[in-house]
Amino acid sequence: MPELASVNGKITPIDQACVSIHDRGLVLGDGVYEVIVSYHDKLFLFDEHIARLRRSLAYVRMSYVDVDEVVRLIRQVFQAAAMPRAKVYLQITRGEAPRNHAFPVPQIKPNLIITVRAFPEMDPALFDAGIVCLTQPDLRWGRVDIKTINLLPNCLAKQAALDAGCHDAIFIAADGLVREATAANVFVIRHGVFLTHPANEHILSGVTRNCLIDLIRGAGWTVEERAATEQEMMTADEVFLSGTTAEVLPVIRINGRPIADGQPGPISRKLLGIFRAWIRQNGY
Ligand SMILES: Cc1ncc(COP(=O)(O)O)c(C=O)c1O
Repeated sequence: MPELASVNGKITPIDQACVSIHDRGLVLGDGVYEVIVSYHDKLFLFDEHIARLRRSLAYVRMSYVDVDEVVRLIRQVFQAAAMPRAKVYLQITRGEAPRNHAFPVPQIKPNLIITVRAFPEMDPALFDAGIVCLTQPDLRWGRVDIKTINLLPNCLAKQAALDAGCHDAIFIAADGLVREATAANVFVIRHGVFLTHPANEHILSGVTRNCLIDLIRGAGWTVEERAATEQEMMTADEVFLSGTTAEVLPVIRINGRPIADGQPGPISRKLLGIFRAWIRQNGY
């Protein structure tokens, strides 16, 4: 089936979908988003994504959006696309109005954009070989736990990483603490203990991160939700990224220096196996 879009419920081939140049998402970055993938026709951790969407909408004062209707429209276009392994992108902006920072009065109709594309599988070799990262100062705003479409600092950091011959960038706070990657969370393993940044306003708390924390604990390991220092990360036994597309992705070098022996570590490998088995067992 072709890749499809749904704009306010109107389904079209993806290249025919459009919104107005007055859309506040386009002009002001005034919107929120989610990315959901499917495994075997089933949307992965769908309820968790929708719960996060509700939180994002509440923070940007758009709780009036009918999320049950959004869910219906997501399912409608996902079914129409009939793509068992899909990437569903959902964006809700405040709507269309002449450019003005203030919210339009009276309240306007939000724009709901959904696209369903074939899921771009991560190169399987990367899970075996691991990736290399560059650290970057975290210059983002103070509420990156809200999944807004304002991603320019993430784009700049990602491009800096690519320009340096790396796969991704890891944000470091001014106090030297490890935050997250440009579109994934970071886990650091030291002496058998997993460290990951607490779910506060300085990271986007990934649905994958939360699922992995349960699986790690279920497997009998210890997770501490505390930020590692950059020094702790550089001298870790293993480092990996977690995310909807990253799953459990080993990081083998950072800033040109190897993590441990510069090979993907055994615990990350084992956890990826546990995660994929859990996906299958849960009917995805
Ligand atoms: C900045 C950031 N952190 C973490 C994640 C991982 O979130 P999830 O596991 O929900 O995909 C994402 C995903 O887009 C992200 O953009």
